[in-house]
This record gives sequence, structure tokens and C-alpha cells, in this order.
Amino acid sequence: MNLSEKIGVIESIVKIPSYLLVGIAKDRVVLLSDLSGEMNLWAYNLLSGDMYMLSSGGVVDAKTCFISPHVIYSQDMSKGRELSILYIINVSDPDSSFPLDMNPMRIMGIGFDGTHISFVGVEDTSISLFLSDLEGNVEKLFSGEKFIELTSIDSHLVSGYGVLRDNSRSMELFIYDLNDNEFKVYTPLEDSINEYPEVKSGKILFSSNWAGAKSLFVYNYNTNSIDKVVSSQLINEYEINDFTSFGWIDENNIWFLGKSNGETKLFVGTKHIPTPRGYAEYAAFYGDHIYLSSSSLSNPPKIYDINIESGRYNVLIDNPMPEKVSKAFSKVEFIRYKSFDCIDIPAYYIESSYESKPGISIIYVHGGPWWEVPNKWNYSIASFVSLGYHVIAPNYRGSTGYGEDFRVMDIGDPGGGDLKDIVYSERWFSKNGFSSKKAIFGYSYGGYMTYLALTKYPDEWDAGVAGAGIVDWEESYKLSDKLFQSFIQILFDDNNKLFPDRSPIYFAEKLGSPLCIIHPQNDSRTPLKPILRFIGKLLELNKSFEAHILPDVGHVFKTKEDLFKLIYPAIIFLDRVLK
Ligand code: 4NP
Repeated sequence: MNLSEKIGVIESIVKIPSYLLVGIAKDRVVLLSDLSGEMNLWAYNLLSGDMYMLSSGGVVDAKTCFISPHVIYSQDMSKGRELSILYIINVSDPDSSFPLDMNPMRIMGIGFDGTHISFVGVEDTSISLFLSDLEGNVEKLFSGEKFIELTSIDSHLVSGYGVLRDNSRSMELFIYDLNDNEFKVYTPLEDSINEYPEVKSGKILFSSNWAGAKSLFVYNYNTNSIDKVVSSQLINEYEINDFTSFGWIDENNIWFLGKSNGETKLFVGTKHIPTPRGYAEYAAFYGDHIYLSSSSLSNPPKIYDINIESGRYNVLIDNPMPEKVSKAFSKVEFIRYKSFDCIDIPAYYIESSYESKPGISIIYVHGGPWWEVPNKWNYSIASFVSLGYHVIAPNYRGSTGYGEDFRVMDIGDPGGGDLKDIVYSERWFSKNGFSSKKAIFGYSYGGYMTYLALTKYPDEWDAGVAGAGIVDWEESYKLSDKLFQSFIQILFDDNNKLFPDRSPIYFAEKLGSPLCIIHPQNDSRTPLKPILRFIGKLLELNKSFEAHILPDVGHVFKTKEDLFKLIYPAIIFLDRVLK
């Protein structure tokens, strides 16, 4: 393939729209999509079948409430620095949007019950809880310093979760009662992990591991009692380890999307509803229909319409793929391999039909670190596979989706056991006949792992691409806002003495293969400044590297152009040094 053909393939992949279901507002399915080139709100009218762009100027996050025609959304005001303002818009009228009366800030979750909006906002020295009415009048309810995220409001109860005790490995719910203006911390059992509360009429649905394997529970705020709502039998039968989302259908009935080895299964009450194979983030109910956004590693996101009665589903919004891309995925497999300490590490691998075996492989390292590579559409992986690279994506210790014991294994040890898991995934891939040459690629925490892998295990790799990585924990901590400072403290379990040993900048002289650095200029999670110092060091040490600073871009990409600016230099670099 010549250069212009390669550019054509990358462009055709980047142009594939993403669709993420937000919810239902007055006979409209509300979506987040970059169909216009920039992430915005779209509405699909269920009565007429029309679809139209609702917002303009870019949207980060959004929330609907079934009973309301309004949609609440956040818009970045700072060229990607994640200082956002919330807006209210009527789903029927793209010109009706107006902002809440607030300063731009990092927003950690939005709640909306049809009459009030609540959100967590990060200010200079505090992490605060806010309330607004539908005129946009905002009041501050509570200010703290601990890591919290808001998920729900219903009438007088505002709820979310956070690391609210002095234990990095536990998570507690918070409930702010507007009747007595008290911020209450709730946990069913000290040191357990409790997340994503959804409030309905005084009842709080949440996920928890307090009684063993993760399940769903309802805490009754008025009677101070707790009920398990998903049986252990169902959890075992469907091998559910986690949940992507869940909610109330009415005051007595719930739905949930259970996660099992990177794929989701939809349940209404205890009834399993068939869905397309892959990963769905969210579901919304409308009459006897469920709407769902779902994708897989080899299929881009589509919106599905499921009939609850018949259990059948149709594609509501399709997403065809270029033939060159659909033919690239010769095999997608979920596996487990043994790491250095005999722990089983789950991974997905994708065999490219455009590369021989053994051939050139890429170890794709996800970010988070509390995130995963599920069987879900991924633009970078699709690009690598389409351009003739086999890919393995390890869900190293600390990843979500495989139980809380596995998820907390990186706390107090980032860049330790998790890094070894990544090295062992590469060895497994080689041993099983996939790789002759291998590169490591990652973004954010994955970019951090890439820097550390290339410097601490220099003999394992032929090249590496680090996007939005971390090279110096101490400087990154100093440059972070209150929320990311508390995030880093949780990750290191307050052991800042570990910072130097886990910072790639101190191991730069060991870099043994060509490195491609890609970093957003305005990144507010993984700041650029330490990367520039790292580049200075590489220059002094006469190492082979290239660096691409993405102008006016933040950590979370807003446009197709931003995405192209990550994938294009990565591919051109990898082809140059490996092929
Ligand atoms: P992510 O970003 O991998 O995209 O979730 C991160 C940003 C900062 C840190 C970790 C991950 N940090 O620890 O500072």
C-alpha cells in the first residue's frame, strides 16, 4: 500500500460515526454522535423517523429524564482543558439552548429528574456538589476534598459515589438530602465497593461487592433497609462480573446490562433479553421497546430497537463499514494467559487478514487504569488491524470487568504488576505464533505504560507509540487539579515515595527502540510540561524519537480531526520503523 492508500484507509475508519445512547426525551431517542465531525447531541424522532442535530459547538456529556422534554449537556469552554458549562435544551428545538449560571469547571457527573439538575464540579481547592433549577439558577450544596462523582437526583435526594473513607480500595455512596441539607455517606459494609446509585422514590439502586460477588442492591433510604435485587444464581448462571449500566423501569422494576468477559447481557428484571453480540453501554425504555447502543471490536456502534414482548431486535441507526475494514478482522478471540505470578490475565486478540503469521504485532494498552478493552468498537485497534498488524489487548490487573479483587490489584503498585502483565501478554502473543516484530501502543494510562515498558523492559519491543502519557508522577501531581490529585493519591495508596521508581523520566537512558510521542497541548489529566522535559532528555541522550504535539486539543478528543491526528502519525511511524 502506498502512502495515499494508507491515508485513505485511516480516513475511512476515522470517518465512521460513533453513536452513544443518552436516553429518551419526549418521543425522541437522544444520542451523542460525531456524525457531523464533532461530538454533538442528536435526536431521533420515534413518531416521524426524522433525525436531526440538536446541539452545536461540541458536547462532552449529557443527561435526559424520560418525563421531560429537556436535555442537559456539558460543553467544554477551554480548548479541551475540560472546563465546562452545563446547558439546558428542549429536545424539539435546536435553538432553545441556554447555559446555567455557573463558572466553567471540570464536571464529574450530571443528574436530572425533570425539575432539578445536580452535578459535581471541581474548583481550585475543592470538589463540590451543585443544584440548579430549570431557569439555570445554581446553588452550591456541599464542598469537600474527596474524589466523588454524581450519578442521580430524584426529588429531594441527590446521590453519587466516591472514595469517602480513608481506604483507597473502598468506595462509598453519598446521599445529599435536600430536606435536611445533610451530606451522608452510606456503605452497607466498611471497606466494600459501592457505585453508580440510581434514586427513585426514596429507593437507591446501586452495584456493590459487600455480600461477595458484585451484584445489584436497593437501599431504602426511609426504612434504612437493604435488599439484594439480582440473585447469586443469576449472577453465576450468566457469569456476570460487573455492570455497564442499570436503572429503574418504574418504582418496582429494574433493568441492567451485565458484563461478562468483555461482552454485555441485557436483563429486564430477571428476564434475559437477547441483544447483538458485543458491548452495550446503555439502554433506554419507551413503551414496550428498549433502545440500545452497541458495538463490537469488529462492528462499529449502531442503535438497536428491541421489542420486549417478542424479544426481537431491529437496527434503528445502521453504520456500514468500508469493505477493506470489514475484511481485515480475520479472528477476534477472548483468551486468558498466565502472568509472572500465575494470575490469569484476560485479553482480546485480533488477527489481521492483511498480515502473515508470525507477523508484526501491536500490544494495545488501554487507559484508565480502571477501564478495559471489552468486545467494543475501538478506532485505534480497527486502524491497526486494517493496516496489517495483529493486535493483542491485555486487560492487565487493575482492569474493570473481572471483579473488584482484580480491579484493586494495581492500587499502591501502578507500573509494577500491571506492567509485567503487559510484558507477559507480548510474550504469550509471540509464543502463540503471532509476532515476529512487536510494538507497544497506548493512550493516557496506556501511554504511561508504553513509556515505562520501553524503558524498564527495553529488550521486549521493536517500537512504541505513547499518546497522552505520564513520565513524571511528581510533576504531574503538582500540575493536576484537586480531582486528579486525589485520583493519583488513591492510585498510589498515598505512597508518594513510589513516584520516582514509577516515573519513566528517570529511566530515559534505558530506552532501546524508536519512540513516537503524541500529546495534546491542552491536556488537563496528563499535562504536556513533563513530556517536554522528557523530550529534552531524549535529545541529550541521542535517542531515536519523534514528537507530535496536537494544538488546541485536550485529553478527550472532540472531533474526527483530533482522532486522525493520533492515528495517522502512529501508523506512519510504525510502518516506517517496522515494515
Ligand atoms: P486515562 O487518564 O487513562 O484516560 O483515564 C488518566 C489520567 C491521569 C491519570 C491516570 C489516568 N493519573 O493517574 O494521573
